Amino acid sequence: MNIKGNTILVTGGASGIGYQFSKKFYNNDNQIIVCGRNTEKLTTLEAEFPEIITKQCDVTHADERVALFEWVTTHYPDVNVIVNNAGIQNRFNLLTADAKNDWESLKTEIDINFDATVQFSILFGQYFAKSNNEASIINVSSGLAFSPMAIAPIYSATKAAVSSFSTSLRHQLSETNTNVYEVIPPAVNTDLGGKGIHTFGADPTDFINEIFEGLVQDKHHIGYGSSKERLTMTKEELDQVTSDMYQQLKDTI
Ligand SMILES: NC(=O)c1ccc[n+]([C@@H]2O[C@H](COP(=O)([O-])OP(=O)(O)OC[C@H]3O[C@@H](n4cnc5c(N)ncnc54)[C@H](OP(=O)(O)O)[C@@H]3O)[C@@H](O)[C@H]2O)c1
Repeated sequence: MNIKGNTILVTGGASGIGYQFSKKFYNNDNQIIVCGRNTEKLTTLEAEFPEIITKQCDVTHADERVALFEWVTTHYPDVNVIVNNAGIQNRFNLLTADAKNDWESLKTEIDINFDATVQFSILFGQYFAKSNNEASIINVSSGLAFSPMAIAPIYSATKAAVSSFSTSLRHQLSETNTNVYEVIPPAVNTDLGGKGIHTFGADPTDFINEIFEGLVQDKHHIGYGSSKERLTMTKEELDQVTSDMYQQLKDTI
């Protein structure tokens, strides 16, 4: 990927890993557009980087996604990169979850992590295909796509789905001007799942620096640390990772 001179939409780009994408791309001479739900975070980002464009959008909802797509392509028609980064993680017990009355809330992870990634990939993939510019779709999955963290069952499944979808997307777009990258974070020190849960994770700056090396080298699947290791493990080894994690964490849900 050419990491300079692009017009880039980063979903959830005002904090966490998304912020790292926004800052790193900004520092490499790209025009950055960031969406998020929380307007305070967007205002703070604008204060730090006045040239970054922000737009409030809750990607849970299909109508807000379409409205964002139309707003971005109308005001920034040169857009040629999307980073599908926005995500949430819920940890819960499948034996006590209320799938009758609480389904709307339970399925929010599917809406944000998977549906939004798929819908934006299709909308922007078709838009990019109509232009002559080189374009990229960067989808953020997780090491948990390969060995699920059983206490976050829907989260892990959405990330496996994002990984699978990104592979299909890459093949279908292989004869177009659009490259597809899957970024696969291990645990990174962000607020994912709530403050304090991921403080043991990798340093976000070290993480993003290595991810950018992968983008420059046009790697299709870009891992870091333990998530890179998971890309080459056997199914039995991955199952063992899941089992060890579950034994360690099962009393927390
Ligand atoms: N940190 C890790 O250990 C880790 C590991 C593997 C994969 N990942 C993936 O990396 C991505 C970023 O996560 P993170 O660790 O940076 O978590 P984070 O610190 O919680 O940041 C998540 C970002 O997504 C945005 N977001 C969430 N729901 C949204 C919605 N409905 N609409 C618009 N924006 C929304 C948030 O913005 P608002 O606050 O404005 O909603 C926030 O900027 C996620 O896809 C996550 O699954 C993270």
